[in-house]
Amino acid sequence: MIKVWDYIPEYKKHRKEFLNAIDEVFKSSTLIFGPKLIEFENKFKKFVGTKYGLGVGNGTDALYIAMKALGIGVGDEVITTSNTAVPTVTAIVNAGATPVFVDVDKYYVINAKLIKSKITKKTKAIIPVHLYGQACDMDEINQIAKKNNIHIIEDCAQSHGAEYKGKKTGSLGDVGCFSFYPTKILGTYGDAGFITTNNEKIYDKMMRIRFLGMERKKMSSGHWNGQYYAVEHGTNSRLDEIHAAILLIKLKNLHKSIKKRQKIAKVYDKELKNTDLILPETNKKNKHAYYVYVVQHRDRDKIISELIKKNIHLNISYPWPIHIMEPYKKFAKKMSCFKCNKCNYTCLDNTNLFSKKIFSLPMYPELTLKDQLYTIKSIKKILLNLN
Ligand SMILES: Cc1ncc(COP(=O)(O)O)c(C=O)c1O
Repeated sequence: MIKVWDYIPEYKKHRKEFLNAIDEVFKSSTLIFGPKLIEFENKFKKFVGTKYGLGVGNGTDALYIAMKALGIGVGDEVITTSNTAVPTVTAIVNAGATPVFVDVDKYYVINAKLIKSKITKKTKAIIPVHLYGQACDMDEINQIAKKNNIHIIEDCAQSHGAEYKGKKTGSLGDVGCFSFYPTKILGTYGDAGFITTNNEKIYDKMMRIRFLGMERKKMSSGHWNGQYYAVEHGTNSRLDEIHAAILLIKLKNLHKSIKKRQKIAKVYDKELKNTDLILPETNKKNKHAYYVYVVQHRDRDKIISELIKKNIHLNISYPWPIHIMEPYKKFAKKMSCFKCNKCNYTCLDNTNLFSKKIFSLPMYPELTLKDQLYTIKSIKKILLNLN
């Protein structure tokens, strides 16, 4: 079977290293807030290129904690996209704020030119989602944010190692939020997340919020000093030692694995360029990290079901835009649409259109060329029969 993503080949390759690292954690007597987390925090923030970085429980929490640390809550509006994973919006609503949706461009990320029309007195932040492994146009977004005195919280859940003008995502706004969910470019074998920033004050606040509002004064060993006293209201969101140990191993191979993703993408680009599929484009300012390789076709569902017969299993990121989902419809209805002014979502034209046509081809570093070429051949055959 060919899957759109598979962790087993990687696990087989590094199994001994993973199991040794887990054994080391078990023997250390420190399962939470220990040396593995500190080592990983230091290494991952360096990888991203920020002064500060903290591990948290998952990417949804990362976004939530960032918003809380920036003072975002009830009555505030946060601008983002509807063509994203649900958690981007879950976190905004969890923080008490209102999501405001802006359409995406041909690169599937927020259309920076449309943001201005959605800014109101209540706008407190923009969450640009660096979707599918490609960065948003951060110069334009930063300019708008600066002019309007609003924060930028990058959603980097799908963009580890992706670059905009030579800088890594997660270092381009006030705060960067990562997920290490298993499928991600850097993923663990469970849940984990991370937040990056260059602002010490925001960092200190996020450190408290992730641990029940407690001050975590470091001793010289780097451990928490044990004062069990909440100085503010927080939440409980921890990246534990086992996942930190696994992530340390995988971080060593991250550059190499992104290169492999780019190589796989090149093969798709070359082999599928003369077909009816619309292939992904890369903004010239970007280095694409190819979390997923997303194509478009009007007969998407037919192609996917034909491929299943050949034991090739694809998926769709994402089949439904957030603004049509039951819990979030009400936010979309409130939007003042610059184009139609009645808000039947025509201001989200691309989002609506793409959701009906997009699908993802197999993409993970251990995908073999043989499986990739078989997938390509099968797709081409199906496309010929559709014509
Ligand atoms: C764009 C985006 N934002 C946020 C998240 C949330 O991450 P997590 O699943 O670790 O909570 C994800 C992952 O699913 C994501 O893809």
